[in-house]
Amino acid sequence: MSLTGQHILSSDLFDRGRLEELFGLADVLVPVARGEQVTRVLEGAVMASLFFEPSTRTRLSCESAFLRLGGAVTSTTGSEVSSLSKGESLADTSQVIAGYCDLAVMRHPEVSSIHEFAAVSNIPVVNAGNGAGEHPTQALLDMYTLYREFGRLGKSMDGRRIALIGDLRHGRAPHSLMKLLARYDDLTIVCVSPEGLGMPEELLELVAARGHRVEESHRPSVGLADADAIYATRLQTERFADKPLPYSDEFRVDRALVERVCRPDAVIMHPLPRDSRPGANDLGTDLNGDPRLAVFRQSDAGIPTRMALFASVLGVADEVRKSLRPATWHRPAYRRPDDAAFYRNTANIAD
Ligand code: NCD
Repeated sequence: MSLTGQHILSSDLFDRGRLEELFGLADVLVPVARGEQVTRVLEGAVMASLFFEPSTRTRLSCESAFLRLGGAVTSTTGSEVSSLSKGESLADTSQVIAGYCDLAVMRHPEVSSIHEFAAVSNIPVVNAGNGAGEHPTQALLDMYTLYREFGRLGKSMDGRRIALIGDLRHGRAPHSLMKLLARYDDLTIVCVSPEGLGMPEELLELVAARGHRVEESHRPSVGLADADAIYATRLQTERFADKPLPYSDEFRVDRALVERVCRPDAVIMHPLPRDSRPGANDLGTDLNGDPRLAVFRQSDAGIPTRMALFASVLGVADEVRKSLRPATWHRPAYRRPDDAAFYRNTANIAD
């Protein structure tokens, strides 16, 4: 079944075949994301960008992806500036927006919000984060990052050891990622979290039922050892109504910990934002410049991945390849020193 016209509410929509198709299309779109080529396959289409919770990456990369496909974007951010603040229901808002736009991307603090919104929408609705629920487009770009990083390192996806660390109870990004990891084979998935912030049981059961080995640990120095990839996450403070934060500095994934326990070729990821304030127990900024730190390659991956998704949902995936032309303007290549190896091996990926 094709993705055309589908709502993208959960990452469980994507089986391995769909993921591989999307990643193939994302590879083709990397030069568009980098400003080397242009396409107009979505000319005339309008995307509604509805963010009722803070966002930098997801909103800007969804909007940039749609714009780079030749579409246009209209947006509202924060419920205080939309009619939701006047008591309008999500269902009414949804039906109004369907009359204006061709696809809607929505982020909202309530888990049930996206389902209420999509249930009455006759345009495709993309979940950009529903409270502590899911974040399927983040999981797609995370899987695409793993696919490219492991490709660069000459490793296959199957058989890998993947460690997820942090607030796995409230983190919607790791929830959606678990469902995609489950689609691969023979993984060892290590969930490392403080007591009380573990991965929801049903997600542990889902991956175990698909034949993967699942381990849980409260000790980062044990849980991160020998992992091929480490997926660090932020403590989701906005989901804790006044409760004390059960987090110790043991959970700071910094250079000292990485040097002590991680593989020399570990891929270190984080959906970002990371809390970079002094004393924060998050991914350390002292890892900046370490080629293992893939977080900015990961955020870059948001553009080709979301372009591939939007093109597929709006039924133009097959048009993309023949639509590409060189950009007539020049944007200096954006390459960080630690990305050199990555670019050397993948520069001609779309050729
Ligand atoms: C995440 C989110 O909003 O769920 N960020 C993102 O979209 N890249 C992770 C987070 O906020 O911790």
